[in-house]
Amino acid sequence: MKILITGGAGFIGSNLARLLVNKGHEVVVLDSLLRGNKLDKDTFSKIKFFKGDVRSRQLVLEASKGCDVIFHLAAVLGVDIVADNPVETMDVEVVGTRNVVEASETNNVKYILYASTSGIYSHSAIVKNALTEEVMVDPRTSYAMAKRYNEIYLASHHEERGINVISIRFFNVYGWNQDNRMVVPRFFEQAKNGEDITVFGSGDQTRDFTYIEDTINACCKLIGIKGSHIVNIANECEWTISELASEIKDVTNSDSKLTYIDAPKKRYDYEVERRVGSSKKLFKLTGYKPETSLKDGLQKIFDINYPKK
Ligand SMILES: NC(=O)c1ccc[n+]([C@@H]2O[C@H](COP(=O)([O-])OP(=O)(O)OC[C@H]3O[C@@H](n4cnc5c(N)ncnc54)[C@H](O)[C@@H]3O)[C@@H](O)[C@H]2O)c1
Repeated sequence: MKILITGGAGFIGSNLARLLVNKGHEVVVLDSLLRGNKLDKDTFSKIKFFKGDVRSRQLVLEASKGCDVIFHLAAVLGVDIVADNPVETMDVEVVGTRNVVEASETNNVKYILYASTSGIYSHSAIVKNALTEEVMVDPRTSYAMAKRYNEIYLASHHEERGINVISIRFFNVYGWNQDNRMVVPRFFEQAKNGEDITVFGSGDQTRDFTYIEDTINACCKLIGIKGSHIVNIANECEWTISELASEIKDVTNSDSKLTYIDAPKKRYDYEVERRVGSSKKLFKLTGYKPETSLKDGLQKIFDINYPKK
């Protein structure tokens, strides 16, 4: 298949591009390189690359010519960055997705797979069981609201025009080549440098960490599914942030201490007590679900980043 990945030079996109190329697909990447280029040399040499903004209607139209599938991943993210740039965050989401939809119509693209987020569950996360896609969502930030808007927009587009759409709700993806806007690489860096590992709040807040290889495998399995769906990709395991910090200390064999500090005020809307997802729907649709434990995933990152000499 010919597959366009918007945001394909980012953390998830670059890993996905490598996997799709290795599976024999023809891959096109459109990225503004806002966060640099995470595509490895070999993959980069095998894809077609368009540098530019997903908000350019013309560019998206051109990049998606002849494509069967679009993975739409381009986005502004990172809690602090989004909190400081709410309008741009929403603009990239809304205009970018409109361009992807319009280009799909013009170029007869059959499948759109859109990167949504578990962040839209927000406080509905305080439930007994793992979050399923049926749970009432509660988006509270510009980022989460724009993601939810796009889920509904894509579903309505399926109703009206029949294009196959999947909104994928990612749960704290972590892995190789992630930058320290996110908690896992930030803790790794502090642990490796022997600095205090700084945890916001009590450290009892929980998250569901999904390893990158599992995430991109699941993304691939979702290609070709007809209809309109919202699908979690979650590891179905709940870890507190303190436990995450301790695991990273263990893996890196670090003497760092855990210190607890108040989260900056601008982070308050993002602070959620509990979050753990269900991948039952993913499994029902694809026969696949993430299986890498947090311990194994952290060990893999360590082995890749700090290979034995
Ligand atoms: N990483 C996670 O845990 C996670 C969780 C939930 C949802 N998501 C979603 O998954 C997608 C990928 O996330 P990621 O972790 O790879 O982030 P990332 O920041 O590494 O990748 C995003 C990419 O989009 C590009 N981009 C940003 N604005 C652009 C624009 N206007 N035009 C073109 N390109 C632009 C960036 O340069 C970057 O390469 C995003 O849509 C994100 O919201 C990620």
